[in-house]
Order: sequence, then structure tokens, then C-alpha cells
Amino acid sequence: MLLAACTAARSPRTRSWDAMSYDERLAYMQTTFTPAMERVFARFDEHRYPKTTCATCHGADGEARRYKMPNPDLLLEDPREAMHHDELERFMKEQVTPELSRLLGKKSDCFACHTLDR
Ligand code: HEC
Ligand code: HEC
Repeated sequence: MLLAACTAARSPRTRSWDAMSYDERLAYMQTTFTPAMERVFARFDEHRYPKTTCATCHGADGEARRYKMPNPDLLLEDPREAMHHDELERFMKEQVTPELSRLLGKKSDCFACHTLDR
């Protein structure tokens, strides 16, 4: 409880994601968003995801693309047509997407990160 309050106070999202400037978003991604996502990925599989960095989602050329999302290299088959219901997809659906929505303070889906492959 106390810990959660401290964490939240350290780097608050002072206004809605959509209203934030590019620099505010960059700072939020660095201070709050990436550490929080790192916890989620490590909890799922700390061997596969020992470290979560900007490149995990934005790719190696993220900075050059000014961190524009979705990432064209994170191709995803249409989940409505090709849901394999494997462990990774469940993790994406039940952990990653809700955490993204929480951190951005808005409803997000797979295609905040993924590009549809078709
Ligand atoms: C877990 C995935 C993930 C990680 C890790 C991540 N980001 Fe992001 N980032 C996103 C998503 C998704 C968006 C788009 C959110 C939206 O607009 O709905 C985004 C948006 C951004 C934006 C805003 C881009 C714009 O067009 O306004 C910046 C800047 C950014 N990220 C920088 C970073 C930096 C720097 C890091 C590493 C410190 C990082 N991100 C780590 C997923 C991630
Ligand atoms: C915050 C960003 C983000 C969101 C939201 C997200 N994913 Fe992902 N997804 C990733 C990243 C990053 C990887 C690559 C992980 C890796 O390299 O192991 C990935 C990988 C995958 C893969 C494996 C792809 C492959 O080629 O092996 C599948 C399948 C997947 N995601 C499905 C989904 C589905 C379905 C949703 C929505 C319910 C979703 N993802 C939402 C970031 C995201």
C-alpha cells in the first residue's frame, strides 16, 4: 500500500497520455512505463525476458522512428482469425494489454504495439 503510493508519486502521469507532449511521453516511458512493463514481462518468464528495454517494443530502430507505434516489425496475424490460445498470447491478452491500458490511462489493444499482418 505504502510502496504503491511511493511508486505512483515518484513519476506521476500528470495529465492524460493523449495530452502529453512528445518529451513528456519520452520521460514517462523511461521513468515509469518501462520499469512497470519489465516487472510484467519478468513475472511471465524471467529467462526469456531478463531485461525489458525500449527496443523490446519499439525495435532496434525505435529512436530513429521517433518511437512511433505500432511497430511495423511486431507483425501479428489477425487475432480474430488466428487465435492459437497459447501461453504467450494469453500473457499478451491478460497481462500486457491491461497493464498498457493502466499505464496510459486509456483503453488499448493488441494493435497499440502490433501491426496487422495481411
Ligand atoms: C512494453 C512496450 C513498450 C516499451 C518497453 C516502451 N514503449 Fe514506448 N510506447 C509503447 C506504446 C504501445 C506506445 C504508443 C502508445 C499510444 O500512443 O497509444 C509508445 C509510445 C512512446 C512514445 C510516444 C511516441 C509518439 O508518437 O508520441 C515515446 C517517445 C516512447 N514510447 C519512448 C519509449 C522509450 C524511450 C522507451 C524505453 C525507455 C519505451 N518507449 C519503452 C510501448 C512501449
Ligand atoms: C505493449 C505492447 C504489446 C501489446 C499491447 C501486445 N503485445 Fe504481443 N508482443 C509484444 C512484444 C514486445 C512481443 C515480442 C516478444 C518477444 O520478442 O518475445 C510480442 C509478441 C507477441 C506474439 C508472438 C509473435 C511471434 O512472432 O512469436 C504474439 C502471438 C502476440 N504478441 C500476440 C498479442 C496479442 C493477441 C495481443 C493483444 C491481446 C498482444 N500481443 C498485445 C508487445 C505487445
